[in-house]
Amino acid sequence: MITIRPFREADPAAVEALLDRAFGPDRQKKTVYRLREGVPAVKELGFVAFDNKALRGSLQFWPIQVRPLQSGGPPVNAILLGPLAVEPAYAGRGIGLGLMRVGLQKARQQGHRIVILVGDLPYYSRVGFQREGAEGLRLPGPVDPNRLLIRELVEGAAAGLEGLIEKPALTAAESAEAPDHREAAP
Ligand SMILES: CC(C)(COP(=O)(O)OP(=O)(O)OC[C@H]1O[C@@H](n2cnc3c(N)ncnc32)[C@H](O)[C@@H]1OP(=O)(O)O)[C@@H](O)C(=O)NCCC(=O)NCCS
Repeated sequence: MITIRPFREADPAAVEALLDRAFGPDRQKKTVYRLREGVPAVKELGFVAFDNKALRGSLQFWPIQVRPLQSGGPPVNAILLGPLAVEPAYAGRGIGLGLMRVGLQKARQQGHRIVILVGDLPYYSRVGFQREGAEGLRLPGPVDPNRLLIRELVEGAAAGLEGLIEKPALTAAESAEAPDHREAAP
């Protein structure tokens, strides 16, 4: 039986190994990783799926902001869903969707209002993500625009949202908390 529970302190090493298996060693070259460098994941919003004490899946979220390019208004806070990974041999058993349902519910409880991700619409539409509303968003690097998806956790939170998705402004304490990322710029 698969059990989903929040991240514990000992989980990150196993999760990193799972991410390498699921995405391949080049995963950190993706544009979304630029947004994670030097930024800690959202606290209490990391989840792992276990089966017989073995890690089978994981989900984390990162804080981001959308800086309007047209209105010049203040940045809008959001969270980036991912990485989401399921042990390849355990794909198709509902682990990915289960992790996202738990994660999105908890995110709403924490007061987050907008979730953005880069992924396949046919899959992520199953947990409410859509392309509509994400057309005006830009990432700081190349990405297939059809894969840039959005989901409101609060109705109307993303109305008229446009602009550049970027790292959030961090406090010194938050910066200090960021893991020493393998890919951090030299
Ligand atoms: C993509 C991934 C997270 C899916 O996890 P999973 O636990 O296998 O997915 P679930 O069991 O919850 O959902 C399975 C359903 O989603 C469908 N599905 C899975 N990936 C899909 C995709 N990319 N596009 C469309 N449908 C997809 C399956 O066909 C299946 O459909 P069914 O219920 O009608 O049979 C997992 O395969 C994975 O880790 N892949 C490698 C890493 C990755 O690509 N992560 C996502 C980054 S965008």
